[in-house]
Amino acid sequence: MALGHGVLLLLLYFSLFTDALYKQWIPDTNFENSTNWDKGSIPCGSDQVAFAAGRRVSVYVEESHWIAGMSLPVDGELILALSGSGFALTETEDPDCGSGVIAQFKDSESLKWFDPSLWVAASTSDDLHRGRYQFSVHEESVPCQFDDVEFREASSFRVDISSDRDVSVKTVSVLGNKFTQNSDFGQYLASKSGKLQFHGSASLNVGASGCADITGCICDNSRNRDKICANVKCESLACKYPLHPVGHCCGVCGAIVNLQFSSAFNFESYRQRLLHLFLSQHKYASVHMAMSKVSKQQKLLEWVFFRSSQEIQVLLLDGKSGNLADSLTQDIVKDIHSHGSNIGIEQAEFQTSSGASSNHRQGSEPGVVVGAVVGVLVIVAFLSVLVLLSRRRVLKMPFLPSLRSMKNSGDIGELGGPLDHGFDNPMFDKPTMMPEEPELYAADKIKAVTLTPSGVHFVNPVYDEFDFNA
Ligand SMILES: *[C@@H]1O[C@H](CO)[C@@H](O)[C@H](O)[C@H]1NC(C)=O
Repeated sequence: MALGHGVLLLLLYFSLFTDALYKQWIPDTNFENSTNWDKGSIPCGSDQVAFAAGRRVSVYVEESHWIAGMSLPVDGELILALSGSGFALTETEDPDCGSGVIAQFKDSESLKWFDPSLWVAASTSDDLHRGRYQFSVHEESVPCQFDDVEFREASSFRVDISSDRDVSVKTVSVLGNKFTQNSDFGQYLASKSGKLQFHGSASLNVGASGCADITGCICDNSRNRDKICANVKCESLACKYPLHPVGHCCGVCGAIVNLQFSSAFNFESYRQRLLHLFLSQHKYASVHMAMSKVSKQQKLLEWVFFRSSQEIQVLLLDGKSGNLADSLTQDIVKDIHSHGSNIGIEQAEFQTSSGASSNHRQGSEPGVVVGAVVGVLVIVAFLSVLVLLSRRRVLKMPFLPSLRSMKNSGDIGELGGPLDHGFDNPMFDKPTMMPEEPELYAADKIKAVTLTPSGVHFVNPVYDEFDFNA
């Protein structure tokens, strides 16, 4: 019975959804939300209502309020939701309210679009409204370009979109109006309410296309990583080997399963499969899962040729210890071994914060590959120098000087000119680009593989103008 239900659900999801999410902004500037008042309660009949004079704010009012007085901000608006909402001045002291205080409306000036803690996400609009939120890595907690963004229907807000780039999303809903066209939304942004609700240096655009790839889409928020992570405070961790998932600002305890997928893979149906088969089990109740498509420059040989691969990252977060994630990982990998080919998963690798990992990541293989790559590079460089020298008929020298001294003395500069942009090998120059393979950057490995730690730049005509008939 339960299984049949699950299968039906999986089929449904298979046809309906892709990887885009609905994301809702949490804070509001509603008069009736007690968290917006400095005293923690909504002003009552004897209270003076105070809005900070220098601030701009759009306040949503649903009910009618008796108050003793109100000081307004320089620029602001009160959105009276219903015909009955509004304010009336109390003439005598309200006995239920005491002698009255000055109730200060809290400042929402500093609430940032790029703060991942201010958003909730769900895979359908229905889930969003029922509070069935899903967990995401920090970068994906903030709206991605293919997401639908929602500001709660009966609410106003103020959000700071400061960024050096414009922000694009698929749609934005404000006060129950869903904007899908950038021209309409632009008009709204220019309105009184729009200007009070959205501020900051970047403009917000709607109309970006959704995610049409059934195998998932990569959220482009990695370019906003610094802004996003600036709002995140990482907790201290109790596990032995904290993991560093792609797209997350902090180290975590738990497990990461990386999947290589085929075109038969369906992102959302696999997410549902994991939820129904495993995460719904009682023993895994405390585990959070975040699934994302990520771009990885993982294979060294591919790296040299500047290609990156896409894979699916399944992050399993498990409180402080990380032990549950270990057994969940085993369940997931077992499932892939028996059903992977049917659901479009070609290979799975994992790491857990207790130190377990699939063989592929542990063995000596990376070392062997590095050796091979360096070998190839040395040969290519040597041949290139020979070719260059012979073409310029300067092959008189009995012994080749070291590449480095040639470069320094300007010999190659003269030959190379614009050619001399060398061979930027990110393996040596940009170690931060490969954080998931920290073992490659252990000091001893670097010594073993780099020719000079300061970075030799090979002049490599093979890529620029090599001519075998020359
Ligand atoms: C009041 O605001 C808080 C935080 O801004 C939010 O979490 C909460 O959902 C709001 N309450 C209501 C009833 O909307």
